[in-house]
Amino acid sequence: MRVSEPRLVLGIETSCDETSVAVVEHGTRVLSNVIASQVELHAKYGGVVPEIASRKHLETILPAMSEAVSGAGIRDKDIDAVAVTCGPGLAGALLVGVMFGKAFAFGRDIALIGVNHLEGHIFANFLEREDGKRPEFPLVCLVVSGGHTDLIHMQSEHSMTVLGRTRDDAAGEAFDKVARLLDLGYPGGPLIDRLAEKGDPEAVKFPRAYLEEGSYDFSFSGLKTAVRHVVEAGEASKQDIAASFQRAVSCVLVDKAFSCVERTRSKMLMFAGGVSANSEIRRAALKRAAAERVSLLIPPAVLCTDNAAMIAARGHHLLSHGFRSGWDLNAYPALMLGTSPRGGRA
Ligand code: KG4
Ligand code: ZN
Repeated sequence: MRVSEPRLVLGIETSCDETSVAVVEHGTRVLSNVIASQVELHAKYGGVVPEIASRKHLETILPAMSEAVSGAGIRDKDIDAVAVTCGPGLAGALLVGVMFGKAFAFGRDIALIGVNHLEGHIFANFLEREDGKRPEFPLVCLVVSGGHTDLIHMQSEHSMTVLGRTRDDAAGEAFDKVARLLDLGYPGGPLIDRLAEKGDPEAVKFPRAYLEEGSYDFSFSGLKTAVRHVVEAGEASKQDIAASFQRAVSCVLVDKAFSCVERTRSKMLMFAGGVSANSEIRRAALKRAAAERVSLLIPPAVLCTDNAAMIAARGHHLLSHGFRSGWDLNAYPALMLGTSPRGGRA
């Protein structure tokens, strides 16, 4: 083992349609976080085209790396370790990052760690914040992204227990599908967020799926169908539908997350993942946290969506605890939370 606590970690994220490279110091201070979005490339297809995503990652990763290194005011040789997303995500897209990270780490003879993308999202909350707040355990974290809606109980940085998850669509997927029903384009979340500002969130009474008493699971497919019926009936304006849909999602997410904090007697609630960039969800969570005196952490919007700084943060944590990946690190498209292929202890 060459380093115990690496000072400068290079983070690499290519699991979907963002090519991101970051330099993070001591696992918390973001020196640079370059995010090259491919959104415009995929927009005309209405969603991410995996083959196009992989090719674009290949084209972009080297310039993104150079920009991240120069933006951090360092040189390649100053980097102590590489943390790269190895799953879950699109196989071809992940492979570009994994192979690049591996080659860089091998060439410089520095440590390599594969990071679970979802754990990366959670660790966006461990990056330095202006208000100085830090995660306090035990805590509850709601991970809401394009592919996941997981309510997680954490006793420590190492212990993550999934208490609830979606039974059908992920929250972000619901935003994207409803945006398609409203002909708004891709990606749907930010477009609905913007349109909803002009609408009345109480205009349409959409169903809220709380499921069985005490359940921490989620379901969004009924809501999506209800939106389709309202759109087809032409009963409401697009902005009212967007605002009412957003309110319905926000109510269920926020209610379940706060009740989970209470029932598990946790010290803190954290949000993570792209959907936590949503302004209504952030507003509702902040209001509730103030009313119930619950300590709340939500990363700044830019760190909620895919980025490499969060991957470097998680990587730093694992490396500091002696975990390393081997040169056989691969892409794991269906990687589950808590099952990172971390390799053996160094
Ligand atoms: O975490 P993320 O960037 O990528 C995944 O790991 O999936 O999340 C992407 C998802 C997309 O479904 C996108 O529509 C949604 O997050 N999203 C939002 C907002 N910004 C991104 N959803 C609602 N409101 C937003 N402002
Ligand atoms: Zn993500």
